[in-house]
Amino acid sequence: MRSIIIAPSILSADFSRLKDEIQAVEAAGADWLHVDVMDGHFVPNITLGPVVVEWVRKVTMIPIDVHLMITDPDKYAPEFIKAGADWVSVHPETCRPAPHATLNKIRELGARPSVAVNPDVPLSKVEDYFSDIDMLLMMTVFPGFGGQAFIPDVLPKIEEARKVIEQKKLSVLIEVDGGIKVDNIDRVVASGGEVIVSGSGIFKTPSYGETMRQMRKASGQARSGS
Ligand code: DX5
Ligand code: ZN
Repeated sequence: MRSIIIAPSILSADFSRLKDEIQAVEAAGADWLHVDVMDGHFVPNITLGPVVVEWVRKVTMIPIDVHLMITDPDKYAPEFIKAGADWVSVHPETCRPAPHATLNKIRELGARPSVAVNPDVPLSKVEDYFSDIDMLLMMTVFPGFGGQAFIPDVLPKIEEARKVIEQKKLSVLIEVDGGIKVDNIDRVVASGGEVIVSGSGIFKTPSYGETMRQMRKASGQARSGS
């Protein structure tokens, strides 16, 4: 039985107290930290760059999962890896000259490569990259902002991805990102999600520890019922 990995997204943290927020989720049981990088081009929002990841690296031991929503991941992924990223997700439509090269470069530089799949992109568009990746990032919102509503139409695609990964015996994790909270995590896990990103679903709740406990409980029930 798979156990879930919870990756709070710091996009919803209080940035005036970023170190405290990171250490609070870590102490409350976070497995990874999800870091959303947006450049105002690929998505209509701007967040943070490698210098922030460098400081984040200094205040936590847990893996840093960098989600690049930028037009030039080939130029900047190496900087994020140097700053301390353990995992790097790229949107394949942004990779130049081709995702294979970007993903291989990420691995060569010592990080674990992942491909992000937007809600309207069919799995067939990314299956070619399965042999290059350690994780598939299934978006359950359109990238750009925290706090958006979960798109349940993506669930069958997550199930499909799980089947392909199992049939081909690939060691590829399925990460799910966008609008996940205590009340819908069971559906995400029942569909095959195992790395759970949650921003507002954790940081906007009064007790991070209690929220993550409830998430694990709900996902355990989803697994035994699935
Ligand atoms: C959306 C980001 C998500 C976001 C998740 O573009 O990729 O990682 O921070 O936040 P919530 O959980 O609030 O939807
Ligand atoms: Zn993200």
